[in-house]
Amino acid sequence: MNTKILNTSDESLKEAGKILSSGGLVAFPTETVYGLGANAFCTEAVKNIFKAKGRPSDNPLIVHVSDKAMIDELVLDKTNCAKILIEKFMPGPITLIMKKSDKIDDVVSAGLKTVAIRFPENNVAVKLIEYAKVPVAAPSANLSGKPSPTEARHVIEDMRGRIECIIDGGACFAGVESTVVDVTEEIPVILRPGIITLEDLREVIPETKVDKHVLKAVSVTDTPKSPGMKYKHYAPDADVTVIEGSSEKVAKKIRELLLENKDKKCGVLTVSDNEYDANFVFSAGRDNKEYAHNLFTRLREFDEAGAEIVFAELCVDDKFLMTVKNRLYKSAGNKVIYVK
Ligand code: TXA
Ligand code: MG
Repeated sequence: MNTKILNTSDESLKEAGKILSSGGLVAFPTETVYGLGANAFCTEAVKNIFKAKGRPSDNPLIVHVSDKAMIDELVLDKTNCAKILIEKFMPGPITLIMKKSDKIDDVVSAGLKTVAIRFPENNVAVKLIEYAKVPVAAPSANLSGKPSPTEARHVIEDMRGRIECIIDGGACFAGVESTVVDVTEEIPVILRPGIITLEDLREVIPETKVDKHVLKAVSVTDTPKSPGMKYKHYAPDADVTVIEGSSEKVAKKIRELLLENKDKKCGVLTVSDNEYDANFVFSAGRDNKEYAHNLFTRLREFDEAGAEIVFAELCVDDKFLMTVKNRLYKSAGNKVIYVK
């Protein structure tokens, strides 16, 4: 298949909107990461998302809308906390899980009785949905298991030849996917942290909880609330290990590991001033907000550079720690060395 690469002009977005409404797949920028969209009401198109990504069919998709009124026909009812979070955080980098209406096909919700709803604030995404005139089902636009794409070139790398169209809207603002919150009951539960943090949610609803699977590996006997929690995720080709603790101890441990792996091409991902004698040393930023923003991009850069092993520092404690931990642990397949 020939994949059209379009810019973000109004004319291009109209063309991409038509591709969507007629059953094609379009990758598009959002404020979090790039999404791989299909008309949420067209079952065949939605099935093609799973094929293009190689995504397991039991992992449900987020349905994207371009205004709040569109949500009503997609859900059965809204709990009070759903109403509060819609009012406070939409449009924005949040996804709310609600009970689904019969407008949502089981292919979209992967057989669940709920649906994930997101109203992005990125202008290109909103215009595209408006031109498509339908809600847009969209997971992140990476091959299943790979780091989420934060720039069009990542999407081109993973999806060229597999989908009808890619809209190049430059680098994504957040660089990490939306915060997923289950609002089917009166107490919201975070299923996936993002740049809207637990603290942000507790300012509005103090009882907000975090699902136990957010920071731990899901065992094969578990049925997590969010099916995506159980799959290998965000993994580059390089083998990633997280080293967690105080900056000094982390540095000491990574230096030891580098010596032990002298025969391999090693990379280090830093969030400090620590210096390393490795093949590739890439900075993820100065704090966990920057880390969350840069993580996926850097992981892809290690692959481009040919790193076989990556040691990732985790040594800053701030309100975005949970978000970075959640993604980093997964990209490392939960290989974490604590040096506290
Ligand atoms: O920022 C984002 O959320 C991006 C952009 C494109 O909007 N999308 C994204 O989609 O990250 P995806 O499919 O890569 O991740 C969606 C996550 C998965 O872990 C999935 O299992 C979960 O949301 N999810 C979707 N529907 C759900 C539902 N009904 N109940 C629980 N979890 C759900
Ligand atoms: Mg994804």
